[in-house]
Amino acid sequence: MTQRPPIRATLAQLRSFEAVARLGGVGRAAVVLHLAQPTVSSQLRELASAVGLTLFVPRGRGLEITDEGELLLATVRELFAVWDRFEDDAARMRGLERGRLRIAAVTTAEYFLPDLIGPFAHAHPGLQIELAVENRDAIVRRLERGDDELAVMMLPPADLPLQRWPFLENPLVVVAPVGHPLASRKRLKLEQVVGEPLLAREAGSGTRRAADRLLEQRGVRWTPRMALGSNEAIKHAVAAGLGLAVLSRHTLGRDPARDGLTELPVQGFPIRRMWHLVWRRDRALSRPAQAFLDHLRRGR
Ligand code: PGA
Repeated sequence: MTQRPPIRATLAQLRSFEAVARLGGVGRAAVVLHLAQPTVSSQLRELASAVGLTLFVPRGRGLEITDEGELLLATVRELFAVWDRFEDDAARMRGLERGRLRIAAVTTAEYFLPDLIGPFAHAHPGLQIELAVENRDAIVRRLERGDDELAVMMLPPADLPLQRWPFLENPLVVVAPVGHPLASRKRLKLEQVVGEPLLAREAGSGTRRAADRLLEQRGVRWTPRMALGSNEAIKHAVAAGLGLAVLSRHTLGRDPARDGLTELPVQGFPIRRMWHLVWRRDRALSRPAQAFLDHLRRGR
């Protein structure tokens, strides 16, 4: 095959050519392109000589496109359609590379969320990611105000227009200190546990709410001996022998014994709950939020 020398046409020449063909004259094309008429004329001449074809013939006071010109016009339109798609993609990428992603999560989710965000953050180093960690009721207030675009929680409120996607199990378990007399039993009744001093998360916590609900359903009355404001505070208090507690299994890590903790085999436990990713149905998601959602959905 003989090598053809490449045609040296520029994007600017092609834009002028397309405008002249569409509008039927150099003057009109120059106005639309914000160029001087002689500039458009010389671009047309240069283009015709670069492609080696007659693109227009004079007709009245304007120009008429030739069959050869039509062939180029069809090609140029395809080229521009592809280029426009690239420009759209580039604009979206720029939004993703410089934008901000605001996520809110309940305190139990802080144990796994960094692992979920990690690969996405690595893939988009210019993206600023803000992760707010608070208890369930505080996250509901943030969603009401629209502080964050995405939130991770176990018990989404029913009275907000939310889209929800359950994506990970959140088993709630009864935790005791290693060496506790109940820890050697194969099976425990709920009543045996409730007879022990109990520690609970603060009011407003989803973990607390889920535990309250379960005990209420079983007709068990309980008054926690102590309410503590974080999962870590509860873990330390349990390990120190201050009482038993209901916690998300995710807060315990791979080796609970290292923290002096063990899980008790209590009837009705683990309480099987899910974590949901939620977002406001009445607000459009930003490009970064949508991309993060797509990323999570692809990964599962
Ligand atoms: P929380 O988290 O106990 O920190 O509120 C539990 C949840 O609501 O998912």
